[in-house]
Amino acid sequence: MRVGVLTGGGDCPGLNAVIRAIVRKGVPEYGYQFLGFRDGWRGPLEALTKPLDIPAVRGLLPRGGTILGSSRTNPFGIEDGVQKIRTNLQNLGVDALIAIGGEDTLGVATKLHEIGVNVVGVPKTIDNDLSGTDYTFGFDTAVNIAMEAIDRLHTTAESHQRALIVEVMGRHAGWIALHAGLAGGANIILIPEVRFDIDQVCKWVEARFQLDYAPIIVVSEGAKPKDRDETLLTGEKDAFGHVRLGGIGDWLAGEIENRTGKEARTTVLGHVQRGGTPTARDRWLATRFGLHAIDAVHAGNWGQMTALRGTDITMIPLSEATRELKVVDPSLYSEAEVFFG
Ligand code: F6P
Repeated sequence: MRVGVLTGGGDCPGLNAVIRAIVRKGVPEYGYQFLGFRDGWRGPLEALTKPLDIPAVRGLLPRGGTILGSSRTNPFGIEDGVQKIRTNLQNLGVDALIAIGGEDTLGVATKLHEIGVNVVGVPKTIDNDLSGTDYTFGFDTAVNIAMEAIDRLHTTAESHQRALIVEVMGRHAGWIALHAGLAGGANIILIPEVRFDIDQVCKWVEARFQLDYAPIIVVSEGAKPKDRDETLLTGEKDAFGHVRLGGIGDWLAGEIENRTGKEARTTVLGHVQRGGTPTARDRWLATRFGLHAIDAVHAGNWGQMTALRGTDITMIPLSEATRELKVVDPSLYSEAEVFFG
């Protein structure tokens, strides 16, 4: 059996650990051959490949990024895209594919499975917004990076008596903001799922200064005030129709300065949250997902995805995982409100 492996969408720490685990189990236990596809779905679409064997995966466990490269290529948006993939898989002698990705990459995998391609999915994303799995790998690393930034910002905020805003990733889901904000002792957390009132935010900021502290506000890039849409960096959209978010932190700083008279500054963490070495937890999760993905290939569990439930790894239908995003429940968010202000 020849198994193709690809990584698609925004990269995240742990992708290489999955690739390593797949190969390290698949070669000795099942006698499989592997072929890496470059740059997400662009690989099978354009027959861009990379050799993948045991020597190729040495030293990959702690390495961030992905040795296969990634892209947001959408074969369903390209003329004859799907037919090209089928032809290339056949010509390359690839019997099955393991697609490691988030909602978009696995959305493509779901549709390819429906037309008969042998595909198994592995969920990744720093946003942690895929349904059906308790966590995706990459999330824990991103949360730890954001928490460390918040820890550092507390001291400089207090030295200057400034409001400091930390803008974190999370397009439609506030998981990073909520977890990092709680872990870092933020005074206000703003997430896409719950619209915020800027008057209330300014009241919390003033209350914090009155206690002789300086407020730290953690905001998801997709957070929205009550009367405004998401803040966009540019109007451009990717191949899956997603706009580029960014700028809500600067908008907040301007409003806070104007309304409270206090200085405010913004730190945008951006792609720092996706770079570098994975945490122990992400290495553990990514490795286990890889081991279970190759078992799923061996069992012929096509159209399924590895998922974490508690501490168990199970297989669930890709269609279930990609039907809707897993967002923060307002009741979970309200737990954090006791620390606001
Ligand atoms: O989906 C992961 C993610 O990091 C989002 O949090 C963010 O909005 C987006 O990707 C950024 O994408 P890009 O790297 O293409 O700018």
